[in-house]
Amino acid sequence: MSVLFTPYDIGNVRVQNRFVCSACEDGAATDDGLITDPILKRMRLVAEGETGLIISTHMSVHPEGRTRRKQLGIYGDGMIPGLRRLSETVHEHGAKMVFQLGHAGAQGPAGVGASGPNEMSEDAIADVIKAFAASAVRAAEARADGVQVHAAHGYLVSEFLSPFFNKRTDAWGGSEENCFRLLKEIIAEIKGVLPRQMALMAKLNGCDFTPVEGITPPLAGKYASRLAALGVDAVEVSCGTSSASPFNMLRGEVPVKELLPLFPEEKRSAAEKSLLSMADKFKLSEGYNFEASKLIRSVSGGMTVFPVGGWRNFRTMEHAVENGDTEFISICRPLIREPFLVKNFREKKAHAASCTSCNRCIAALGNGMPVKCYASGF
Ligand SMILES: Cc1cc2nc3c(=O)[nH]c(=O)nc-3n(C[C@H](O)[C@H](O)[C@H](O)COP(=O)(O)O)c2cc1C
Ligand code: SF4
Repeated sequence: MSVLFTPYDIGNVRVQNRFVCSACEDGAATDDGLITDPILKRMRLVAEGETGLIISTHMSVHPEGRTRRKQLGIYGDGMIPGLRRLSETVHEHGAKMVFQLGHAGAQGPAGVGASGPNEMSEDAIADVIKAFAASAVRAAEARADGVQVHAAHGYLVSEFLSPFFNKRTDAWGGSEENCFRLLKEIIAEIKGVLPRQMALMAKLNGCDFTPVEGITPPLAGKYASRLAALGVDAVEVSCGTSSASPFNMLRGEVPVKELLPLFPEEKRSAAEKSLLSMADKFKLSEGYNFEASKLIRSVSGGMTVFPVGGWRNFRTMEHAVENGDTEFISICRPLIREPFLVKNFREKKAHAASCTSCNRCIAALGNGMPVKCYASGF
């Protein structure tokens, strides 16, 4: 049997195989951030398709930290019953459920961030730390198997971590230690309330790809080794920032036609030129965060570190785990298109994902449409 179908533990959570469904915001919650049947349906299919560990869509821990109207939230106790249905749906099929907790920071409509015009006050920072811990308590009440702090993609926590975004001169910026402080305090608060049987994870950028250097693999390694010392069970390695380099984060095609409606009418022609000039620059390579993940793993003292991004071929995934370079393979878009991909791999009905990385699913999210595979157009 392939090593990819053997179990592995993240902290006290036993995962039935080495496949992780990476977080995928689906734009399908109610306007108030509550769960809906389409979200449950997609998650049920991914679980039924034998994915071992499912990381939920990015859930906002604070009303000011929402990415968009239809983002799932975990900032109120009234949200718990719906989120419990999510865990139960996934558990019915033997998969484990981790809730991704995040705050959109300057990238959200509220626009509050580490630095810039709406720089967060110390009181606001304290409020956010409490909101992460309260959300972890709600995740436990909703029977999740773990939580993942979203510290990647230029959202609030990664703004603080990144020397490009974080221009603060107080205790929350400047040195490596100060830039790490927000994540450190969030982890410490969550650890204080999280039941021992639940896993504590983080998603980090191995590289920000900002116009001026932000997080790079060596800095991410330093952050990951600090996370290991704080008792974090696993780190998922991604890259890019949603605002400055979304196509470094995702790679693949730039869906020009589908992105144009996001620009005001008068800016569309300039936007089209600029998007067309990027069209061939982000070719997807297999496991494109793997090298960063290996480097980060090498300085993380045995903590589980695994890469997401561009895994498409079964044999390459198997090779990565067989070689001992990662315990898990995390995938996102291929499971949007084929929720049964893992089962199909196990039954040898597929040896590669059929996702073409056309990125129309992410363009749909930007256009306020629910996430599904739009490979043949909107
Ligand atoms: C539609 C869509 C929504 C996403 N939402 C999230 C999210 O909520 N949180 C997150 O950390 N990453 C999110 N991502 C990024 C993925 O988790 C993953 O890092 C990226 O798609 C690369 O992996 P892949 O090549 O397997 O798709 C999203 C990606 C897509 C395509
Ligand atoms: S729209 Fe479909 S084929 Fe295109 S990237 Fe998304 S999941 Fe893959």
